[in-house]
Amino acid sequence: MDIRYDPNVMVGLGVPDDAGVYQLSEELALVQTVDFFSPNVDDPYSFGAIAAANALSDIYAMGGRPIVALNVICFPEKKLPLNIMEEILRGGADKAAEAGISIIGGHSLKDEEPKYGLCVTGLVHPQKIITNAKARGGDALVLTKPIGLGIINAAIKAGIASDETTQQAIELMSQLNRKASEVMIEIGVNACTDVTGFSLLGHLYEMTSASGVGAYISLSKVPIIPQAWQLLKEMNILPGTRANLAFLEGKIDWDSNISSSEQVMLCDAQTSGGLLIAVTRDRSDQLLEALHSAGIPVATEIGGIISDENRRIRVRKK
Ligand code: CO
Ligand code: CO
Ligand code: CO
Repeated sequence: MDIRYDPNVMVGLGVPDDAGVYQLSEELALVQTVDFFSPNVDDPYSFGAIAAANALSDIYAMGGRPIVALNVICFPEKKLPLNIMEEILRGGADKAAEAGISIIGGHSLKDEEPKYGLCVTGLVHPQKIITNAKARGGDALVLTKPIGLGIINAAIKAGIASDETTQQAIELMSQLNRKASEVMIEIGVNACTDVTGFSLLGHLYEMTSASGVGAYISLSKVPIIPQAWQLLKEMNILPGTRANLAFLEGKIDWDSNISSSEQVMLCDAQTSGGLLIAVTRDRSDQLLEALHSAGIPVATEIGGIISDENRRIRVRKK
């Protein structure tokens, strides 16, 4: 048998989804993902926690429950003291513990620059996988964390972010999408993805393409970290965000009152962002209320899915 055609592969490389899914039995499927990157903040413990939360997020976005993880770490052991590596791993282990799982192994490699993340295994019922391919016309779109994290990360690197802004961003990026995922599983939703490097609009584009639908976003409803607007004025456009803008060129219908900096904001590359959820209109209030009660007050309806075979995304002001 050609292993590429293994019928137990339910979600694989052929589709741009958050994690791979492999069916084990009628009632059980494995959800697998790996994600690691170089430090986006100075504090090694926080970096470890952010990288772990970011990796776990892909399991949550699929409606899965993580069960176990492996460390992936690159470290310049001749250039940096080893206790920095220990702090990174401690941040990751604490975050995994918060997710209710153990890290049971991993691999380390010498490298010029530190990198860290996790390979995570989760479980899901094969009939309850939440892909990004089943958004339907009329669905509401809900976002569970504010955007602007890419700009703030760059400002932290450039040394122009205030301590308060830095701390707020670290808290947001370290926040697990666990509760948001548990709530969406409980309520029942059509599609979900987590918002990371491909930006809010990039990940929405993946969802609309995979689902064969269009969408609209109301800019005024999108939660945006207030300080990100000011920092946006002081920074050059980041390479990741520039790539997102280039990729989305011609794919988005911007209303004429949307400024170019507002366009940049919606294409800002996130780290460990929130869940973007498509939910039928009759459940959207229930979903929002449940997210708010679960301690996610920022969860907001930011737009909706439209039946449109041309799969256009419109960005309007209100
Ligand atoms: Co993802
Ligand atoms: Co990922
Ligand atoms: Co409320």
